[in-house]
Amino acid sequence: MRITDTGDLWWKNAVVYCLDVETFMDWNGDGIGDFAGLTQRLDHLADLGVTCLWLMPFYPTAEKDDGYDITDFYGVDPRLGSHGDLVEMIRTARDRGIRVIADLVVNHTSDKHPWFKAARSSKDNPYRDFYVWRSDPPPPTQHEVVFPDQETSIWELDEKTGEYYLHRFYKHQPDLNVSNPKVRDEIAKVMGFWLEVGLSGFRVDAVPFLLEGAEVEPGSEDGDPHSYLRALRSFLGRRAGDAILLGEVNLPHAEQVEYFGSSDGDELTMMFDFVGMQSLYLSMARHDAAPLEKALRDRPPIPRDAQWATFVRNHDELTLDKLTEGERQEVFAAFGPDEDMQVFGRGLRRRLPPMLSGDPRQIRMAYSLLFSLPGTPVLFYGEEIGMGENLAAPGRMAVRTPMQWTSGKNGGFSTAARRRLPGPVVEGGFAPEHISVAEQRHDPDSLLSFIQQLIRRYRESPELGWSGVEVLDQPHAAVFAHRATWDDGSLVAVHNLGPEPLTVPLRLPDLDAETELVDLLDHGSLACDERGSVEVALEGYGYRWLRVVTPGARRLV
Ligand code: NOJ
Ligand code: CA
Repeated sequence: MRITDTGDLWWKNAVVYCLDVETFMDWNGDGIGDFAGLTQRLDHLADLGVTCLWLMPFYPTAEKDDGYDITDFYGVDPRLGSHGDLVEMIRTARDRGIRVIADLVVNHTSDKHPWFKAARSSKDNPYRDFYVWRSDPPPPTQHEVVFPDQETSIWELDEKTGEYYLHRFYKHQPDLNVSNPKVRDEIAKVMGFWLEVGLSGFRVDAVPFLLEGAEVEPGSEDGDPHSYLRALRSFLGRRAGDAILLGEVNLPHAEQVEYFGSSDGDELTMMFDFVGMQSLYLSMARHDAAPLEKALRDRPPIPRDAQWATFVRNHDELTLDKLTEGERQEVFAAFGPDEDMQVFGRGLRRRLPPMLSGDPRQIRMAYSLLFSLPGTPVLFYGEEIGMGENLAAPGRMAVRTPMQWTSGKNGGFSTAARRRLPGPVVEGGFAPEHISVAEQRHDPDSLLSFIQQLIRRYRESPELGWSGVEVLDQPHAAVFAHRATWDDGSLVAVHNLGPEPLTVPLRLPDLDAETELVDLLDHGSLACDERGSVEVALEGYGYRWLRVVTPGARRLV
């Protein structure tokens, strides 16, 4: 690999780990997770192989959307610690080779933010234009709301001034008006501030909604909202050359790819592959690799320095909004048949292991897939130990329960009384008595050890970060076989999404009898014949990662 080709594009083969400080580790015993606790637990993340931490919002908040309703973009929620505690954490993370990024939530503020309070105080307040107002009664927008259980319109009447303000999300989250140059300046200052504090970039919340308000580009003829995203990226690059924008853009691939920008990749650095994720669940529900294959074959080419972020679960509902109604019902039936497991009519408020009935074979197969798919994998805290959800918590909070460190009180998250915690701990089969870091860290057969191994293999296989996906033809509907090739490395991965053991014939025409396929997750290797054919045996829900080793290869397989 040429150094001049790769530069320092650290995000291309990073391992990202998302957590909320509030639910990770409480160090002062007040029941709320804090930066001091997170700092203490960075070694767990370093051990796991995490290279980039994504912090969910840690700013002062009105606490109506778990921190996504911000009242001060420059602050640190005092319950979590101070700016000093945050900087200590970033410094310690850096020492362990871990970068830190954080949510940038600038589509909206809380209605308790001083800007909105000023804006709604009178129509001629200087902050009025920080938000989006209309005086005519709005048309029906019920079909446009993001949270249909709470909202019926994206416009809310402000009684005092008699006008309506736009809120794409909850009515307590008024949308900022990013066509206002003053708002753009404020957003840039916020980014600049956190970059100086030591962040390596941002997970950008709700990008399409943010751009929606940017239709009028000040001083530009074209009115292209993407010019605003280009401006943000260019500002980021000027302030911190290797910082990233990891965007939340849940759109069909063809529309989504526009958010990477031109072929130079001048907009978002990374985007979550929501379509790939949803197709993976449909494939698992059907024991049929076809939906996943289609999603990956249809992944559009992206700029060289850009990257897909792959994931199986995040902090929100497991959205299935890109599936057809029939497909969504199939996934509901397989993984969340009770109404209480579903949310917003489009998603599941469950974590992966309970959805797979705790079956270790299926769980491991799913994570093996995650780490072998070309892209940069993103884990949500607790996935490494197989945490479940607590449906007694409201809505999406079901999957945001305290991290389970030990089998002791509150799962070792806090010494405080249970009622003082941010939410309930998981109960039942996935409770801390059964699932915890302490129990798994010394057990070589644990899920934690397995995920650690997958991360090691992922990190030593740069082709998984750098190559596109080559789906391999083979005869079994249940099998997903793919190959990633980049520079002098090539890896074949084979996954059985069904319960029956199978033998998978593969044709790899560029290989011959001199080539060995060395198993990266187990002992042993397979030999190709002179035409590059090979048969790979798989258990039910089995998986194999095979490194292509040609004579003279110097790689430590
Ligand atoms: C997307 C975030 O992921 C979600 O948790 C939040 O509620 C909305 N944006 C509003 O900020
Ligand atoms: Ca605390």
